[in-house]
Amino acid sequence: MASQKVKEICQELILSQESLKEVCDRLQEEINKGLGKESNPEATIKCFPTYVRELPNGKEKGRFLALDLGGTNFRVLLIELGDKCTMESRIYAVPQPIMIGPGEGLFDHIADCLACFIKERSLGTELLPLGFTFSFPCKQEGLTKARLARWTKGFKCEGVEGRDVVELLKKAIAKRGDVKIKICAVLNDTTGTLMSCAWKNHNCRVGLIVGTGTNACYMEKIEKVELWDGDLEEPHQVIINTEWGAFGDNGCLDFIRTEYDNTIDRESLNPGKQLFEKMISGMYMGEVARQVIVRLVSEGLLFDGKTSDILQEKGSFFTKYISEIESDEDGDYNNCYAILEELGLNNATDADCANVRHVCECVSRRAAYLAGAGVALLLNRINEESVSVAVDGSVYRFHPHFHNLMVEQVSQLVKPGIKFDLMLSEDGSGRGAALVAAVASRSSATR
Ligand code: GLC
Repeated sequence: MASQKVKEICQELILSQESLKEVCDRLQEEINKGLGKESNPEATIKCFPTYVRELPNGKEKGRFLALDLGGTNFRVLLIELGDKCTMESRIYAVPQPIMIGPGEGLFDHIADCLACFIKERSLGTELLPLGFTFSFPCKQEGLTKARLARWTKGFKCEGVEGRDVVELLKKAIAKRGDVKIKICAVLNDTTGTLMSCAWKNHNCRVGLIVGTGTNACYMEKIEKVELWDGDLEEPHQVIINTEWGAFGDNGCLDFIRTEYDNTIDRESLNPGKQLFEKMISGMYMGEVARQVIVRLVSEGLLFDGKTSDILQEKGSFFTKYISEIESDEDGDYNNCYAILEELGLNNATDADCANVRHVCECVSRRAAYLAGAGVALLLNRINEESVSVAVDGSVYRFHPHFHNLMVEQVSQLVKPGIKFDLMLSEDGSGRGAALVAAVASRSSATR
């Protein structure tokens, strides 16, 4: 059991149902602003229409390439859709200097990796369709045109904001002259996740990521998308990439933000931006926990008041530690001791571990409840009897209780009568990209 004093300090991380209901209501308001034609330019939640209007029917076929940029790694994939889906992929690192260097360097690197993948597998003779999963906020102007609105999640490459990323990729590929591909779609990872799940599950209407960043997309009726400037033919629906990570950037979440959230924001690459994301996602959760722990040490409530050099370093408490510590059986602190040792804290006691675990639980519970409040709002908007939510991302996948905590919270706020389930949807960025490319070619064939 955590000590009383530690519990008191952590109290501000615990959100009441009243606050969570308020978060839900405010999200509704911000999404409405995002979808409105006149209000959109000022809106923080941009609600970008994706131009993906049809869900897969399960019969899609063919061979596709996919690129996946936006998490911790960059991946190139080869996907074969048929009765089953087979996939080969390779992960390439994106070195830190490239993440914050000039845009040209980033796209050259992507083209290099793609060329290497194609050569290794001797795919050079076929003109393969390619889906580009680019998981940053983009204003889409069509299925193959996406202007980056701004970088998030630790990327900051100059000369890309405001530009069409498909164009930049094509340029980098053309410059090499040794790769032939046909870019058929550019999509966000949330869209890929939704599509990947919808392939076999026809109730799926929401795609959610809780990984390095957080974001959600959902199927919206065209008449509710005042912003829509595409055609008004069937189907009267379009997937909206909400970019809810930016929720709160206008101050509307200040009533639940803490001094820890302020510090993280101030010290980030994008101060004032992505404030909801900074309370929820894997890029920041560990750091929230570290800040609380550092404070508890400085007040003499942990480790006898003795800190370590590593603990004092920003970013040293990885988000995966939270998952590992909470994976310890009740009353057992094996993972916790091992992690504290890695951090140079060798004299921890069971009581310290109980307190550290409590901090982790408060931080991850807050994240899961906030994400859950967001999902409930989307389900209420969709207002169908039974909806599946496709979820991916390292936090959702590896945290031992995240799924259950989210279900608990969605149930609190969803309208009575709406049934839902949260499903792990793997490989959205690969299979989802292939499916968007496949559905795109089907739609253009029938139009
Ligand atoms: C960030 C990006 C968003 C992406 C999310 C999850 O919020 O802005 O586009 O979907 O991370 O990867």
